[in-house]
Amino acid sequence: MLNTLKTVGNYVGRFSGVRSLHVSSALRHDSLFVHRDSPEDNPDIKFEFTPENKKRAEAILAIYPEGHKRAAMIPLLDLAQRQYGWLPLTAMHKVAEILNLPKMRVYEVATFYTMFMRKPTGKYHVQVCTTTPCWLRGSDEVLEACKQNLGIGVGETSKDMMFTISEVECLGACVNAPMIQINDDYFEDLSVNDTNEILNDLKAGKKPKAGPRSGRFAAEPLGEPTSLKGDPPGPGFGVRSDL
Ligand code: FES
Repeated sequence: MLNTLKTVGNYVGRFSGVRSLHVSSALRHDSLFVHRDSPEDNPDIKFEFTPENKKRAEAILAIYPEGHKRAAMIPLLDLAQRQYGWLPLTAMHKVAEILNLPKMRVYEVATFYTMFMRKPTGKYHVQVCTTTPCWLRGSDEVLEACKQNLGIGVGETSKDMMFTISEVECLGACVNAPMIQINDDYFEDLSVNDTNEILNDLKAGKKPKAGPRSGRFAAEPLGEPTSLKGDPPGPGFGVRSDL
């Protein structure tokens, strides 16, 4: 029956200029993209930049020429988030006020970029990349290790406000997959053991070493080079027999 209906729908769509109906897949994202007033996030919460951050905000604004100050929006939102731990409604309003923009312009940016957290976030924001290269290299196991170790799921924050887990798209370190980002640090070439070690260090108040865990320095090949080992041939190679 369903197949018959689909066939009829396709037929009608093709020959009558009427497009067949599509149903959007369910939204699955752990960031809040609509605002609902809550005790911790409402227009009455006071937000003001600290004196040091006011100076930083002025320095950021000074980078951009007159008439283009709105380009400072992302750095200012980032500054607000670093100060508060996440982005409450009133922090967005403060940025709109500084840039002399309608609040909606700031909402649009803050809700578009997943780096901006619109709900209370743990001291350590554990972002697990599960895009294809990381997935092929075991990001499912890394994510599972984070969930098990911290006792929370994706999009959740531990009760002590220490950890939040997010599942994110490619963070640009695919050559060192699988990887996670915790606050400003990347941890790469991870195994389940490495993941647990990093999280246990953070729980114990230690600072785990960022970077690859495989022993390599950065993104160079593991082990000996396998290609491009000799000196490169000069210009004209393969064209002139005397070269
Ligand atoms: S796929 Fe994970 S960093 Fe690119």
